[in-house]
Amino acid sequence: MTLSQFLAPATLGLTAAATVWYLLTDSDRSNIKTSKHFPSLPLPFPYIFQSNLVEVSSSEWPLRLHQLNSPTFVRLPGFPSPVLMVIDPQLVKQLLSKCSTRPLIGDPSFTNLFGNTSIFRVVGSEHRRLRALCGRAFAKAALGFHFERLKSLAIQSLNAMAEACEAARAIDSMAFVQAYSYKAVCVFLVGDDSDQLEALELLEVDFIAFSTGFLAEFRPRWIDYFSGNRIPKAVAARSRIIKKCTEMAATRREQMNGGQLFTDSLSAFIESKDTDGNGFTDLEIAELFLDLLFAGFETTSKQLATVMYHLTHSITDSDMNLLMDEVANPALFESETTFSSKGVHLEAFIKESMRMFPVLPAPTRILVEDIVLDGVHLPAGTIVDAVREQGLFIPNAQKFSLSNFIGHDAFDKNQSTDFVPFGMGEGMCLAFLLAKLEMKLIVAEALRFFVVHKSSSHKSPIFTHFPSKTVNCFITVERKQ
Ligand code: HEM
Repeated sequence: MTLSQFLAPATLGLTAAATVWYLLTDSDRSNIKTSKHFPSLPLPFPYIFQSNLVEVSSSEWPLRLHQLNSPTFVRLPGFPSPVLMVIDPQLVKQLLSKCSTRPLIGDPSFTNLFGNTSIFRVVGSEHRRLRALCGRAFAKAALGFHFERLKSLAIQSLNAMAEACEAARAIDSMAFVQAYSYKAVCVFLVGDDSDQLEALELLEVDFIAFSTGFLAEFRPRWIDYFSGNRIPKAVAARSRIIKKCTEMAATRREQMNGGQLFTDSLSAFIESKDTDGNGFTDLEIAELFLDLLFAGFETTSKQLATVMYHLTHSITDSDMNLLMDEVANPALFESETTFSSKGVHLEAFIKESMRMFPVLPAPTRILVEDIVLDGVHLPAGTIVDAVREQGLFIPNAQKFSLSNFIGHDAFDKNQSTDFVPFGMGEGMCLAFLLAKLEMKLIVAEALRFFVVHKSSSHKSPIFTHFPSKTVNCFITVERKQ
């Protein structure tokens, strides 16, 4: 065992214990509100982690933060200064009206992983320009064109799970949903050209290296040094991805100049123009591919692991019957339009899964001006995390139920800013329609053609907050006869 392998879990355990102790003891902290400062969680081992390891992966996390009766400063890995966690919906609203850009997480070397024109790095008018160009491109590359391909991809992935289950008694769904999510974004980006699709799919291994390096950014450098230099490997993977994607954009541009017609996102990116008539450069498209594939497969696969978890562990028999009846209707699968409009229970199932375990439970923003929040002065530049309350304070909130998203006025967060698993405002998810379609399709095809159960021989721990390390949902998958 290396030093880092020993120290990391030991420190994690001790820090988590101290944080949990702070959260669980003396829960009546009502005196906090009268103080001039918001409280900070204790930091037991500043030299090693420089963070409070709050358990941000479960749906009870906002509830525990709420017990503090006050916004609270928490040190999170990768952030240069303490982050103010705010959960009260009124205070969240007040804060977000005074916030602008997202902070670039990680220390300065983080910039090696996202280039100068990455949507995660640019701010202000440049960010708005990129978003507007993407918006136009996505509107053109309608999901309807990819529906049949995504449907086959879902079945292919479920078949792979069933085959793996024949060899081993149960599988951890993570690796499979990760491959599915990655390939689904590839289809969305270059689905019209089978050579380009194959080339992009081959980059998955580089994306995994990139993603592993990104996670490593959230820990001190010495840990990375002792555990395989994942950050330099990610930087090298990034160069290969950018080179290949720039080539693909250039090739496609030539094909389009030669009169060939395409309907996928790459062609839409190439055609998209801003109000001055300027479009994306090939390098900008490559950066965008990196952003979209990274954001797309990391988030969707973690969320899908939770979806698989709820499908096999939490759903009630009556809700399962509603889903089974819905997917038994062949009209549902006629087109992307029928799938969206008729898949009411599927939609509710995905939303309820996201409510219980949101992958990104809080948008992180920077205050652009000084404000007084709940009697406390906060200077411009403060980093804040506006935690969504996810309906936790409503009776039966811990119960997984489709009815929460089918016409239940008191609980349905559909129209409200309280339930915004894809973010809101200037940084809202660019591809939430694709993400929802992917998740609904794999659930629908699993119910139609497969028998999916939880594994009786494994426990399924679940850690979903991005960028977390592990999501294990052990299941068995069998093809229906
Ligand atoms: C279940 C899956 C997904 C979830 C839960 C999710 C969630 C989010 C959230 C909450 C944000 C906003 C972050 C913030 O406000 O700071 C975001 C941004 C973003 N997402 Fe997603 N996302 C998912 C899937 C995808 C997919 C499939 C793609 C691409 C194909 C994608 C691309 C992006 C991009 C590019 C941004 C940044 C937008 C910007 O900076 O303007 N996401 N996502």
